[in-house]
Amino acid sequence: GGPVPPKRGLVRRYGGKLFLGLLAGGTGLFAYEVYNARHPPQQFDWDHSKKTIAILGSGWAATSLLKELDTEHYNVIVVSPRNYFLFTPLLPSTTVGTVELRSIMMPMRYITRFKERAVAFVEGVCNEIDTKNKILVVEDNSEIVGEVSKQNIPYDYLVVACGAENATFGIPGVKDYACFLKEAWDAKKIRTRLMDCMETAAFAGQTEKEVERLLHMVVVGGGPTGVEYAAELYDFLKEDLASWYPEIAPKIKITLVEALPHVLPSFSKELITYTEKHFAEAKMSILSNTMVKEVKQKELVVQNPQKEIEHIPYGLLVWATGNTARPVVADLIKKLSPALQNQRRGLVVDEYLKVKGVDDVYALGDASATKWAPTAQVASKQGVYIAGIFNQLGRINADRHAIMADGQDPNVVAAQRIKPFDYEHLGALAYIGSDKAIADLPGNVHIGGALTFWFWRSAYLNNLFSLRNRVLVAFDWGKKSLFGRDISRE
Ligand code: FAD
Ligand code: NAI
Repeated sequence: GGPVPPKRGLVRRYGGKLFLGLLAGGTGLFAYEVYNARHPPQQFDWDHSKKTIAILGSGWAATSLLKELDTEHYNVIVVSPRNYFLFTPLLPSTTVGTVELRSIMMPMRYITRFKERAVAFVEGVCNEIDTKNKILVVEDNSEIVGEVSKQNIPYDYLVVACGAENATFGIPGVKDYACFLKEAWDAKKIRTRLMDCMETAAFAGQTEKEVERLLHMVVVGGGPTGVEYAAELYDFLKEDLASWYPEIAPKIKITLVEALPHVLPSFSKELITYTEKHFAEAKMSILSNTMVKEVKQKELVVQNPQKEIEHIPYGLLVWATGNTARPVVADLIKKLSPALQNQRRGLVVDEYLKVKGVDDVYALGDASATKWAPTAQVASKQGVYIAGIFNQLGRINADRHAIMADGQDPNVVAAQRIKPFDYEHLGALAYIGSDKAIADLPGNVHIGGALTFWFWRSAYLNNLFSLRNRVLVAFDWGKKSLFGRDISRE
C-alpha cells in the first residue's frame, strides 16, 4: 500500500466545523434579538378590575422594577420627565466624547412596549403626591406644551423611584455658574462649554491671564463622579486636545477640590492612595481639606486648609458633591410624621422598602434614605425586589379562593412568602484615567491598573441595558481608538 495519511487530532478534524457552527449559531441569535427588538408584540389592554401601580422615574430602580414586573396582575403607569433610561456609569465618558450620549440611553417605550399588558408612559414631572386621595399631580415641563399640560393620576400602589438631585448646600452661585453631572443634558452642556473654553482661549489676542483662566478646569467634589470626570478630561487632553490645539493645550490645568482630607471616601485606603498618586503623576492637582464658600461667574471662593480665603479663577466648573432629596420627595417627607421621616436625603423605608408612615407607597434607590450607598447597584436590586413583592402579591390574590379553600389565610401566606430586602454588594469600580481603573471587590480584594480597566470595561459593557446599547458603546470605543474624539462644539 501507499503512504499512510497521518491521523488528525479531534480539534484539527472538527475544529473548523465547530467554529462555523458557533459562528452560524451566534449570528442567528444576534439576528433573532435584533428582529425581536424592532417588532414589539400585541399587548393586553388595561384591565379596570385590576389595581394600578404608578412608578415615578425612568432610572435604575424604576426600569429594573419594570423589567421584572409581571403585568398579568396589574395596570402600570410610569411618570418621568425624561422618556429614556440613562446608563449613568458611562455618563462621565460622554462629557468628552469617549462614548456618545445616545449610546447609553434606552427609550422607555422600548421597555414598556414589551410588557404583556400595555404600560402607560407619561412624560412629565410629578410635583406633588397626595397620599390621602392616592393621586399624583403631574405636569408637562418640557419645551413643547400642549393645551393639556397638567393631570391628576390616581394610583393604588405607588413606587417612588425618582432619584435625587445635586446637593449644593445652599452655596451661593453654584446653580448659576457650575455644571452638574447627573443627567444627559448636563453632560452635553459640559462638552459644549469645554470646547467653548478652548476656542475662546485660542481667540486671537486673548491675554495670557485670561487664557490661563479659560483653561483652568475645576471639579468640586472628589467622590467617584468628580474623579471619573477629571479622568476623562485628562484623557481628552492627552489623546486629542494636545494634537488639535498645540499652542494652548499645554496650558490646560485640571484641579479637583475636596472638602475632606482625601478623595473617594467610600473606597479602600489602598485605592485612595493609588488614585491620588496617579493624579499627581498626571499633574492633576487635588486641593484637599478645601471648602468652597461661593461660586462667582469666573472664580471660586474657597477656604484653604490654613483657613484662609482664596480666589481661584476657572473656565469650566463641574460640581459633584453628592445628592439631596428632590422637591417632590422633600414635600412628601414634610407631609408625613417627623418622628418617622427624619432624614433630609430621602424617604425612610422599612425592611420591605415601604415608606414609613403611609400605606401602599414604596421608595427605592436614591429617593430613599437607607444604610446602603446611593448607587445604581443598590437601586436596581431594590427594583427587582419590589417587582418580586408585587408578583407574589398578585399571584396570591389570584389564588385567593384556592388558598382559602385550603384553610389558609392569604395574608398569612403573603407574610410567609415575602422576605425583607437583602443586599449583597458586588464591589465598586471607578475609572481614574490613562486606561486605568480601580476596583474594591468582596473578600477584601483591592485592585487597580490597566487590567482592572479591561475588567471595568467588560463589566459595564455587560451591564448595559440592551444588545443595541452594547453594540453602540463598543462601536464608540472602537471609533475613538481609530479616529480620536470629536472636538466640534455642538
Ligand atoms: P435615577 O437613576 O437618577 O432615576 C431617577 C428618575 O426619576 C429619572 O428618570 C428622572 O428623570 C426621574 N424623575 C426626576 N424627578 C422626577 C419627578 N418629580 N417625577 C417623576 N420622575 C422624576 N452607581 C453605581 O452603582 N455604579 C456606577 O458606576 C455609578 N456611576 C455613576 C456616575 C455618575 C456620573 C452618576 C451621576 C451616578 C453614578 N452612579 C453609579 C449612581 C447611580 O447613577 C444612582 O445611584 C442611580 O441612578 C440611582 O437610581 P434611581 O433609579 O434611584 O435614580
Ligand atoms: P459623593 O457623595 O460620593 O462624593 C461627594 C464628594 O464631595 C465627597 O467626597 C465630599 O466630601 C465632597 N464635598 C461635599 N461638599 C463639598 C464642598 N462644599 N467642597 C468640596 N468638596 C465637597 O458624590 P458623587 O461622586 O456625586 O456620587 C454620588 C453617588 O453615586 C455615590 O453613592 C457614589 O458611590 C455613586 N457613584 C458611583 C460611581 C462608581 O461606582 N464608579 C460613579 C459615580 C457615582
